[in-house]
Amino acid sequence: MRITQRFRVLLLLSTLLLVFLYSNSRKEVNSSMKEPPKSAGVRQMEVQTPVQTPVQTPIQTPIQTPVHTSVQIPVQAKVPTLPSVNISSTFRTLIPENGAYWNRLLHSSLKRADQGENPLSRVPPWPYCRNTNQELIETNVQDVDSYPFLLRNFLWGMKCRSPPFLMDQPNKCKENATFLLFAIKSMPAHFERRQAVRDTWGQERLYNGGLRVRTAFLLGTASPDDPDLSVLVRFEAENYGDILQADFHDSLLNLTLKMNAFFRWTLERCPRVSFVFSGDDDVMVNTPALLSYLSSLDSSKASRLYAGDVIKMASPQRDPKNKYFIPMSFYEGPYPAYVGGGGFVISGGLLRPLYSTCGVIPYFPIDDVYVGMCFSALGVLPEAHAGFYTFDIRDRDRGNLCAYKKLILVHRRSPRQVKKIWQGIHSPLLTC
Ligand SMILES: *[C@@H]1O[C@H](CO)[C@@H](O)[C@H](O)[C@H]1NC(C)=O
Ligand SMILES: *[C@@H]1O[C@H](CO)[C@@H](O)[C@H](O)[C@H]1NC(C)=O
Ligand SMILES: *[C@@H]1O[C@H](CO)[C@@H](O)[C@H](O)[C@H]1NC(C)=O
Ligand SMILES: *[C@@H]1O[C@H](CO)[C@@H](O)[C@H](O)[C@H]1NC(C)=O
Repeated sequence: MRITQRFRVLLLLSTLLLVFLYSNSRKEVNSSMKEPPKSAGVRQMEVQTPVQTPVQTPIQTPIQTPVHTSVQIPVQAKVPTLPSVNISSTFRTLIPENGAYWNRLLHSSLKRADQGENPLSRVPPWPYCRNTNQELIETNVQDVDSYPFLLRNFLWGMKCRSPPFLMDQPNKCKENATFLLFAIKSMPAHFERRQAVRDTWGQERLYNGGLRVRTAFLLGTASPDDPDLSVLVRFEAENYGDILQADFHDSLLNLTLKMNAFFRWTLERCPRVSFVFSGDDDVMVNTPALLSYLSSLDSSKASRLYAGDVIKMASPQRDPKNKYFIPMSFYEGPYPAYVGGGGFVISGGLLRPLYSTCGVIPYFPIDDVYVGMCFSALGVLPEAHAGFYTFDIRDRDRGNLCAYKKLILVHRRSPRQVKKIWQGIHSPLLTC
């Protein structure tokens, strides 16, 4: 009897101990997840935040390195930003100051920049940037619940500006000057498209006149719901040395993040490149025609180039079913003239001022519009070139190789079509 009683007491005590330990450990998990350690007074600025959000974002927390990290680019350290950025008055007046959320964010950011604040000093470090934003958005955007899911997701992550790189190509531009860098937006699953690019217009080589072309593909990560392709992508990266991968989910509304990560990478790894071509992985580029256009430019144009298929007087899509839908409560105003994101080219020398200028401008869900905003703020006008067909060529020209021989870029071609056109325009038998 006594033994059973003792046993019961013992059991009771150990149960209590377990409960105690368990609840304590839960508490720790919760608090460590919800409240990152406080540090270096980074003010959580926001437009109209009624209650001061107590949560502070640490600035010197080591960035969590994901498992397969090979090299990591220092997130904010190495790329120096201009101490002050001059935002053009054209841009200031183009984007009205009104009640829409993005407009409010922009104008408060401009005011801070005018006071000499380095806008990038407020960028929260990567793993924490989403933590508090959701509440902030709910407070500032009344009808956010009616936004499409992807857009809401974009908003929560809007302050996440500098994803760490999971795959880098640190030596891409080390040796020999690069004349043209092809920066191709791709996704992990697009192996075939990338191979078609490597086999044709994106082949890394020296062209006539000593013009060296190099290529990099920019990838985010696949969704956890997708098959795991990471081993294959790593193999591809080792084999071809042209894959860059940053730690964010690849999605349409994360393309702005991808662009900006790429600008940062180029400043770090290819700071002396003459020109950068940014484009999709399903375009066909007539590389010799592009090179001859670029080398024909006079030096003043060559140093301030932002060229392609210019889209003028566009305004936001207000149809919720459109993939580029922008609600009124998010953005109200016109878009600046911008160059279609299917493929455009910029001067390497503009990368640094461009990156600094973009630092003042909150992320916008549409990447080519965003780049257009940065250029407009920088005071560089887009240059229209008739050879960039981001909306395809006329139906009846689609089978005509001579039409392809004259153009610089055409959008939406399958890997097989890309190879066929490329071989066709290089055939010695072709007479146009
Ligand atoms: C942990 O946080 C979640 C979400 O805030 C909450 O639902 C849960 O009750 C918390 N658990 C503990 C043990 O505090
Ligand atoms: C900004 O503009 C002022 C006056 O035009 C000029 O003196 C200054 O150098 C410019 N700053 C930068 C970073 O371009
Ligand atoms: C640099 O150029 C030289 C001479 O053209 C060539 O032999 C060498 O392979 C090049 N290096 C790289 C990394 O492209
Ligand atoms: C962008 O990437 C981040 C980081 O992976 C992710 O949390 C977010 O959901 C992505 N945003 C969109 C709109 O897909």
